[in-house]
Amino acid sequence: MIRDIIIAIDGHSGCGKSTTSRLLAKNLNFKYLDSGAMYRAVTLYFVNKGVSQNDTKKIKDELNNIIIDFKYVEDNQHIFLNDQDVENEIRSDEISNQVSLFSSNSSIRKFLVNKQKTFGINKNIVVEGRDITTVVFPDAEIKVFMTADIQVRAKRRFNEMKSKNPDITYSDVIKNLEDRDIQDSTRKDSPLMVADDAFILNTSDLEINDQVDKIINFISNKFS
Ligand code: DC
Repeated sequence: MIRDIIIAIDGHSGCGKSTTSRLLAKNLNFKYLDSGAMYRAVTLYFVNKGVSQNDTKKIKDELNNIIIDFKYVEDNQHIFLNDQDVENEIRSDEISNQVSLFSSNSSIRKFLVNKQKTFGINKNIVVEGRDITTVVFPDAEIKVFMTADIQVRAKRRFNEMKSKNPDITYSDVIKNLEDRDIQDSTRKDSPLMVADDAFILNTSDLEINDQVDKIINFISNKFS
């Protein structure tokens, strides 16, 4: 049985990281931490307050007023911002378009990285994000970097989003992914990078269950 490890999963937007991580955690009976949701919740807080991403002083001062928690709502893990369920709000276009800008702020990163580390203290957790294998849990027993061709990623995201937002176009989605790739990989603080010892999983031709199986095989081989 796979036990007492941290599984850290980094990778590009739209390559199935969240679904794969959730399923993996469920299969192994591990906890699951969506670190991107935390950056989205903090972004929502500042957008609601009308604070610009350039106002670094205000951002730093306000962070102490932010409490982020995860709770189960009808079997699904939801994120709570200051006791309010914001699971749906954090996925809006407005937040998707602004989150990379706020997540390049060093005070926000320091605040959230500290919180994420506390979630890993008791291990048995799958954590996904953009700096999890390199900054948050550089000593994680298992590191995975997920990627996929941008057209495949855009198509998946477009199919996911069009029921919620019928006006969205494929070119909007590809533009958003391209912008986020650039912002995530070029930001000064903790850019998205591949850890030296990461298992690189290209999901362009894989279904979700295959992705989960490949990670479980990798873990089993590593510990056999
Ligand atoms: O995984 P996601 O799309 O929900 O992540 C939202 C944004 O948060 C993404 O554009 C980059 C940022 N992020 C980050 O900088 N570090 C993390 N560990 C997770 C997400």
